[in-house]
Amino acid sequence: MKKITILIFTSFLIGLVSCNQMDKKSKSLNIIPKPVKVVQEKGFFTITGKTRIAKPMHGKDGSTAAYLQSVFKSAGVPVPELCEPFEEKNVIRFEYAADEELGWEGYTLEVTRSKIEIKANEPEGLFYGVQTLLQLLPPEVFESQKTERKEWKVPCCKIWDRPRFEWRGMHLDVSRHFFPVEFIKRYIDLIAMHKMNVFHWHLTDDNGWRIEIKKYPLLTEIAGWHVDRENMPWRKVTPPGPGEKATYGGFYSQEEVREIIKYAEERYINIIPEIEMPGHTSEVFAAYPELSCTGKKLYVQPGSYWPNADILCAGKEETFGFIEDVLEEVIALFPSLYIHIGGDEADKTRWLECTLCQQRIRKEKLKDENELQSYFIRRVENFLNSKGKKLIGWDEILEGGLAPDATVMSWRGFKGGIEAAEQGHKVIMCPTSHCYFDYYQANPDFEPEAIGGFTSLKKVYSFEPVPEGLSEENAKFILGAQGNVWTEYIKTPSHAEYMSVPRMTALAEVVWSPADQRDWTDFRKRLNIHFKRFDALKVNYSKGSWKVDIQPVLENGIYKVTLTSEQPDIPIHYTADGTDPSANSPVYKKPLAFSNSVVIKAGLFESGNLMEAFTVKEIVFHNAIGKTGTLKDPPSKNYFASGAASLTDGLKGSENFKDGYWIGFEGTDMDLEIDLNEDLPISSVEASFYQQAGSWIFMPEKVVFQIFDNNHILVAESEIKTTTPLGKNDAIIEKFSAGFENLKARYIRVIAVNIKTCPEWHVGKGSKAWVFADEVIVNGKH
Ligand code: ACM
Ligand code: ZN
Repeated sequence: MKKITILIFTSFLIGLVSCNQMDKKSKSLNIIPKPVKVVQEKGFFTITGKTRIAKPMHGKDGSTAAYLQSVFKSAGVPVPELCEPFEEKNVIRFEYAADEELGWEGYTLEVTRSKIEIKANEPEGLFYGVQTLLQLLPPEVFESQKTERKEWKVPCCKIWDRPRFEWRGMHLDVSRHFFPVEFIKRYIDLIAMHKMNVFHWHLTDDNGWRIEIKKYPLLTEIAGWHVDRENMPWRKVTPPGPGEKATYGGFYSQEEVREIIKYAEERYINIIPEIEMPGHTSEVFAAYPELSCTGKKLYVQPGSYWPNADILCAGKEETFGFIEDVLEEVIALFPSLYIHIGGDEADKTRWLECTLCQQRIRKEKLKDENELQSYFIRRVENFLNSKGKKLIGWDEILEGGLAPDATVMSWRGFKGGIEAAEQGHKVIMCPTSHCYFDYYQANPDFEPEAIGGFTSLKKVYSFEPVPEGLSEENAKFILGAQGNVWTEYIKTPSHAEYMSVPRMTALAEVVWSPADQRDWTDFRKRLNIHFKRFDALKVNYSKGSWKVDIQPVLENGIYKVTLTSEQPDIPIHYTADGTDPSANSPVYKKPLAFSNSVVIKAGLFESGNLMEAFTVKEIVFHNAIGKTGTLKDPPSKNYFASGAASLTDGLKGSENFKDGYWIGFEGTDMDLEIDLNEDLPISSVEASFYQQAGSWIFMPEKVVFQIFDNNHILVAESEIKTTTPLGKNDAIIEKFSAGFENLKARYIRVIAVNIKTCPEWHVGKGSKAWVFADEVIVNGKH
């Protein structure tokens, strides 16, 4: 059996090799996530009223055949009828074929003029084969309009495909806002369409308990509802007034949960339920106050609850009784091997003050409250393990020592993931930087209000789930990654779609496709076709960022400037004369070249409308461009850019100090010496600095310019004091400039004297103050 399999696989590969010349064309197949190998061939298979869908042989699971038929039924005629497995002509066939290389989720798909054949080891593979097949069809196949057409055409091709990671997930927070069953199913459909296989269902949190627990009816009667503050900004929500009714909320009955699990199973999606503990549980104390340290009855939060102080008491035995009862019902419902117990952001203030918690610390010989949390999680893990389940928690569960068999979800960056993997624990990566889809995806000025942050589509696409520095051995512990959709600012299904899609599309390719095949430009082209599928599905997707990136590169004294955006088919209009561009300004076609100082402004216009603020880049040509500068103290690693070279590259920073053109010095002076390599005429030296008191960045109290000749003898000096008031909080850029007459010199030293510590009146008083610089400009005619 095995031999035959290998033969089939080899001949398939030979087919691939002999069709190498077709490789370029394969890109036009527009499949997302990109399959491992695609070869497009000549011709089409035509699905007509006479085409059949053959069920797999051997009485094996044939649900995928029925699933495929249901998609056709929804889109309209022709709908292929189901038939027996032995049909060979004008048929879409499913076959179970043992092929170790494919694993349990891989598949092959072959489309010829006479038939379509999907082969896999397991039903998962057949299902993913169908997802690929649907993407080979016109986008209208995703419609649910029951339109009549003569035929569906499928391009002939051979595909060999399997996923890179086994955990390809999407998360949804249904506590901050409640989402109806119908939307949960639609979300599951979106996950399935992207060949992802995990739905992480965040079912409980401070704003509402969302799953029926028979033994604790008040969890859904009381803890599932809060006063309606939907008209208020999240962080400004007011507490309930006297007698005010809790009318906003909802929950999923156990019957609905079962229905959703079944729906997900039919799409090969595993649902991971999350029951938060010990923190993010204040809603529980509206129903069962005795489970907290204080025993005080709370109301369910209608808005932000921070810090997360009221948490489950770790000293009371009844807390663990409650958790075990709840988990028992959760385990009975969810077939998932993994149960998520939260574990994030638990503030330990109450534990510090609680007699019972402190008693527990002493009795169990624990060092502190972190170890008490660890004790808590270990106890819950023991319980889950006794039921044959495994525990997952957010990376805070590392604090105080990780439970023996816990899996860690690394969200506060990559560090937790690295630490857990190095301890031999399984890890799911979802760092905020790349995987938080509640963050802005484009300029906030043009977007619906979000929690903050910035995770553009391109950023998601650039995500590498295996953290740098992890050994090959430990990299095996990285199960995969997931996108997280927290819903503080997301109130409706339509908005949830907008925040999730297409960032989940980018993530799908990250977790499915081979890393070396990732290609942003190619993805962006395929995404335009994928958008048509979303249109057919009526998904409210985001078109992503409308920002233009301006990338200047210095080559032989000339700046070559490339303009790009995340919108490949929308023309970029630009100016190079300092004026604001309009829809009539020149359209960018190829890199621009400049050998004189210039201000470039660029923007995207759709139907004549500017879609985002212009991007501005100022290039200043001066005598020190490209000359070597030496810094006495290096800039901070976090604001390093290209180090000293950033100060003599001719590129000015913008009003955003994080733009990559500013470099930052924390608590030290900027002390730079530039070597012009020879005596050159110098008429003036300028340097700009940045202040934003709220970010602890202040103007230097003074800037000293010193000029030295070829023998390093000081020939001129000038000292300029700042004119910017320290208290000014708005972003401000001040230019310090010194003029010189009849001067020729080789070395220029610029010392920007840092105020060193934040002033008395400032929140950061006594802490290190920052100095930020972008460029030192040396003028003088040769
Ligand atoms: C989290 O975002 N608090 C896991
Ligand atoms: Zn306590």
